[in-house]
Amino acid sequence: MKLIITNSYDELSQKAGQIVKQAILKKADLVLGLATGSTPIGLYKELVKARNKEGLDFSKVIFFNLDEYFGIASENKNSYHYFMQKHLFSKININQKSIFILNGQTKNEAKHCQWYEGKIKEKKGIDLQILGIGANGHIGFNEPRSSFNSRTRLVNLNKQTIKDNSRFFSSMDDVPKKALTMGLATIMEAKTIILLAFGKHKAKIIKKALTGPITEKVPASVLQNHSDLIVILDKKLSPIVIHR
Ligand code: GLP
Repeated sequence: MKLIITNSYDELSQKAGQIVKQAILKKADLVLGLATGSTPIGLYKELVKARNKEGLDFSKVIFFNLDEYFGIASENKNSYHYFMQKHLFSKININQKSIFILNGQTKNEAKHCQWYEGKIKEKKGIDLQILGIGANGHIGFNEPRSSFNSRTRLVNLNKQTIKDNSRFFSSMDDVPKKALTMGLATIMEAKTIILLAFGKHKAKIIKKALTGPITEKVPASVLQNHSDLIVILDKKLSPIVIHR
């Protein structure tokens, strides 16, 4: 595991941005796995900046998103489709055909998830996967007790996740209770993974995930088994991780 400690959210976003930028410069048709949530927004700003100021070319990059809420339309302002368009896709030069996001309105979720796995394989796997972490240790929407062998599938969100996500919705009833997510095995097949975490509220779970036992009770702990994991944290979290 490579651990990068930063002094601020801006620095965290810049470091992550540099790594993604270098990867695209090295491989124009990079297969890039993306995450949602508040944490990677700064990284997406950095990528937009790299496009505008340095002309970074995204035209051949292939994008796969980690997850999507189930039962809401892509036009819904709370969908991850909408989030990605808003923060990244509408601001860079991409080929719309190279964007893969799970469809929250699919009528046949098993078939759809199989199709998604097939697409990842067809593109020869994800080169670089960006991850955030949920307060309960979820990555994507792989909630505690998800199998380390899990693949892309429909999942039930747990109470804490529904509560955490409710801040974006007008009422508790509107918060989706299910989601489609890449599985833990799918995520672990990415050649390189960047895990981003910012803020004191993530300290406890980051310590558990990176220094605690590798257990399905803490889905992100599986990342300890990855051979090319880069963790970028802000300094508020770092002492907790270093001094076990
Ligand atoms: C959601 C997403 C995760 C993300 C998490 C943390 O649950 N499905 O991929 O890591 O939120 O979000 P934040 O970065 O806002 O803390």
